[in-house]
Amino acid sequence: VTKTQYYTATSLDGYIADEDNSLDWLFEVDRAQGDDHFTRFFADVGAMAMGATTYEWVLDHEQLLDHPEKWRAYYGDTPCWVFTHRELPSVQGVTLRFVEGDVAPIHEEMTRAAGDKNVWLVGGGELVGQFADLGLLDEIQVGIAPVTLGRGAPLLPRRITARDLELVDVDRDVQFVRLRYRLRTH
Ligand SMILES: NC(=O)c1ccc[n+]([C@@H]2O[C@H](COP(=O)([O-])OP(=O)(O)OC[C@H]3O[C@@H](n4cnc5c(N)ncnc54)[C@H](OP(=O)(O)O)[C@@H]3O)[C@@H](O)[C@H]2O)c1
Repeated sequence: VTKTQYYTATSLDGYIADEDNSLDWLFEVDRAQGDDHFTRFFADVGAMAMGATTYEWVLDHEQLLDHPEKWRAYYGDTPCWVFTHRELPSVQGVTLRFVEGDVAPIHEEMTRAAGDKNVWLVGGGELVGQFADLGLLDEIQVGIAPVTLGRGAPLLPRRITARDLELVDVDRDVQFVRLRYRLRTH
């Protein structure tokens, strides 16, 4: 069964990026198996989605317009849906779908495309919130960095209480903690 998973990293005070959309604070955290963990997670991903800010950050940070092959090195052939109201540049040779509005029909499309694999919601938090609002989010996998940022892009700007969220796994990686939560369905 396809699960819709929010897999991300956060600061201790619940931000996934600082005010300048930077992740420098994350890359300097002492971890032994950051990439391995992601590789294992990503092996079961059949479709992915991200918001425009995240997409633009990845494009810029990895200079993907000049080096489109880097996208494939990270994400292979996995189709990616980018939520935006604007016309954004595409990465050559990559299956990208630019979409907007109601996430429900797009989620259906993603689930079909994922086959027996999972749907990865890359972020940001408000986009993931739109899936959660409709009961379309099954799991949150979050790594916590030992840093507070004070402000930035929020992890998940919604009220989801313990009644709906079950902690199913905890794992320490040097200075990093990974938590896996399941969204309870009623
Ligand atoms: N810590 C991590 O592991 C991690 C993971 C992912 C992302 N990040 C970072 O976190 C930050 C996330 O930023 P964010 O939360 O501000 O943004 P985001 O979700 O990446 O992008 C927000 C934008 O997505 C578009 N959007 C969202 N929902 C839409 C919908 N239903 N229809 C059409 N467009 C929609 C809008 O773009 P328009 O401007 O086109 O209207 C909106 O301004 C980024 O800096 C990213 O790099 C960090």
